[in-house]
Amino acid sequence: MSKNQALLKPITVGNLNLSNRVWMAPMTRSRAANPENKPFEIHAEYYKQRASSGLIITEGSQISKRGVGYINTPGIYSQEQIEGWKEVTKAVHEENGHIFIQLWHVGRISHPDFHNGDLPLAPSAINPNVKSYTPEGFKETVTPKAMSLEEIKQTIEDFKNGAKNAMEAGFDGIEIHSSNGYLLHQFFNGTSNVRTDEYGGSIENRAKILFEVINAIKEVMPENKIGVRLNPSLNGVFGMKADEETIPTFDYIINKLNEYDLAYLHLSEPFTDVSDNPYLESHIAKRYRPIYKGTLVINNQFDQEKGNKIIEEGLADAVAFGKLYISNPDLPVRFENNAQLAEWDQNTFYTPGEKGYTDYPLLEESIVG
Ligand SMILES: Cc1cc2nc3c(=O)[nH]c(=O)nc-3n(C[C@H](O)[C@H](O)[C@H](O)COP(=O)(O)O)c2cc1C
Repeated sequence: MSKNQALLKPITVGNLNLSNRVWMAPMTRSRAANPENKPFEIHAEYYKQRASSGLIITEGSQISKRGVGYINTPGIYSQEQIEGWKEVTKAVHEENGHIFIQLWHVGRISHPDFHNGDLPLAPSAINPNVKSYTPEGFKETVTPKAMSLEEIKQTIEDFKNGAKNAMEAGFDGIEIHSSNGYLLHQFFNGTSNVRTDEYGGSIENRAKILFEVINAIKEVMPENKIGVRLNPSLNGVFGMKADEETIPTFDYIINKLNEYDLAYLHLSEPFTDVSDNPYLESHIAKRYRPIYKGTLVINNQFDQEKGNKIIEEGLADAVAFGKLYISNPDLPVRFENNAQLAEWDQNTFYTPGEKGYTDYPLLEESIVG
């Protein structure tokens, strides 16, 4: 099949000409094991190895100290972090790759251990009852503090500042992490947001913060370099529970995103089987492709065959691959050669250092070796 497959066709996103549609999904790898939570040489090496991807979306990177929720995740709020990321973007650009950074605030998935004993921030004081990955290992989450209007304003400002820093660090764009049960997703959902002010109650109010974040970011970078990630059918994971307004909420958000000239909308198919849940949509690309007018990237458990098929069917423009990129740094090259794929090792997803991070060979090396 070689180059003549849908996944390997070039695509233009904003003013970027991307060489293929085999994008790298954002993945936390917890390698920023230093007091500043800054990326360093191994991050540059890791992303450089994956530069043949049409677009790399980095791991979630906290926009503020308040936004952190896992150990050793990199930030994008301090000058040291910006300097670390500069090395990453330089390494990727030297290989003619493109890279967006994912801007992240975990909200109630965090733990007081990250905040000198202060409570994590969230739309409402509702414990997600999941585990937080703290410096002392996994701990039960707590009941978070419901954010004041001032704290919401500050958080929007932090997203904007993260985007500004991303531009300084040389990124080609940013992705707003508004999925997977983290802060912005917590605002969307009626089981995690019971506010009675302008950020709660109606669907419009619960979605409002996302549009305020986009509007703020637009002040510091072009709209066509902003990506948005959503996971409309997340259920029973990261404290998310569907209710009768879940589908209408995502319908509203995705319709409204058409008012922007975004780089892309990044959607995930359901992480779990939701076919018997009346409040959730089982076929995300099928539902939202006709609604969303811009570039749509789809994710979750795709392989070469399924990826080519969904693009050929016109249900997505690109596919974001996660775990396959952990163990196959040159995934597009492997697809081009219909080569065998390497298995990933789950035990080293989040462990410090190079093992399971930068030591997966390129196809060339594995043939020679
Ligand atoms: C190790 C690991 C870390 C992840 N970290 C993030 C993250 O930081 N941000 C995010 O939006 N999704 C994250 N995800 C979810 C992935 O982006 C993706 O949705 C998921 O792996 C499913 O895609 P796949 O089947 O191609 O792996 C992570 C997944 C894995 C396996």
